[in-house]
Amino acid sequence: MPGFHRRRVEERWMELALRGDVTAEELRALTPQGAPTFDIVNQMIENAVGVFSLPLGLGLNLTVNGRDHLVPMVVEEPSVVAAVSFAAKLVREAGGFTADADASMMIGQVQLTRYGKPEVARSRVLAGREQILTLANSFHPALEQRGGGARDVQVRILPAPEGPHGEPVFVVHLLVDTQEAMGANLINTMAEGIAPLIEQLTGGRVFARILSNLADQRLARASCRIPLEALADFGLPGEDIAEGILQTSRFAEADPYRAATHNKGVMNGIDAVAIATGQDWRAIEAGAHAYACRHGRYGPLSRWTLEQGHLVGRIELPLALGLVGGPIKIHPGAQLGLKLLHVDNVRQLAMVFAAVGLAQNFAAVRALGSVGIQKGHMALHARCVAVTAGARGVDVERVALLLVERGNVKVDTAREILASFQEVPAP
Ligand code: MEV
Repeated sequence: MPGFHRRRVEERWMELALRGDVTAEELRALTPQGAPTFDIVNQMIENAVGVFSLPLGLGLNLTVNGRDHLVPMVVEEPSVVAAVSFAAKLVREAGGFTADADASMMIGQVQLTRYGKPEVARSRVLAGREQILTLANSFHPALEQRGGGARDVQVRILPAPEGPHGEPVFVVHLLVDTQEAMGANLINTMAEGIAPLIEQLTGGRVFARILSNLADQRLARASCRIPLEALADFGLPGEDIAEGILQTSRFAEADPYRAATHNKGVMNGIDAVAIATGQDWRAIEAGAHAYACRHGRYGPLSRWTLEQGHLVGRIELPLALGLVGGPIKIHPGAQLGLKLLHVDNVRQLAMVFAAVGLAQNFAAVRALGSVGIQKGHMALHARCVAVTAGARGVDVERVALLLVERGNVKVDTAREILASFQEVPAP
């Protein structure tokens, strides 16, 4: 969609409508008048007193497994949408992202205590596997009919946090294929439902039972390959930009302090599309960061290497997403977000999320390893500063340009610039 960012918002709506991405009625959901009504938000949370809005932008140019996706992104940080669109364009010209995702296997956890001998309790739970699975599935027969349901029972016996004198922590994992749902509610119902049976089988006592957000049986992966010559920019050859990216990637692998910021960049993209599509982004965040620690030390979710004259990026993370349930049914913005994204099933959704995370990370490490992020960031930040100083309409861009030119992106300077416009009499 060339030149999309230069159009007026009405022209952008028109383009979406002409392409058939949205109907005239759905366009309303993009305007302040189309925000969820108070009745809706009042059903979503307690003590509701209003509706809080954030910008919704479109990430462009994303191709995943040969299919194009418009990426709805809800985010307040300037440059996130532009960065994804830029990176996705470069990758698109190199063939697009390749991605895959696991089935929707989630983990429900039941903690058993006062169970006596750990190994005896373990064999009793495992001997009751079929009984536990049948009971779990009885709470969600419709899920089984759709091809999902409880699939396996596992036992984990973990060292007592108090030391060798404490009772080892005994955890039963119930593995459930939640199909098109994120699955939190159905897992929690099943975990609570099987707890009395586990007590009965072992003579122990269950306290906590809840899903795990470390959804490591539900991973999504994306990768891209960019020829070095396509990376040339800022007057630097592609090899140089690639080296900056590789070194920045090594930095994140070696240092958790850097890995945290690296992953924050990844999640800039993933959270934005998660919010725009009505996902539980706190669950996604928790899963991503726990997964980043799986080797015992916090590391990056994505990595960049050089392979046969190409820069290759790969990302892997847990993505517990849903196309049914949650706020999706009642939030018009989430429904529209999913429609714009144009996916057939939840695995495809996870693949798009992974590709968005990798695109966002590419834009960050490319800038960090070459000219730095402030150049591009400041140009966009300057617009916010101009608005804060009181600029409106065409003045926003004029003030922003002058702020960047002066290398002084501050509200006071923006006010001075605005005042100087007002001193000049209209022609
Ligand atoms: C800023 O929101 C995100 C970055 O810090 C990510 C990174 O450092 O990789 C630019």
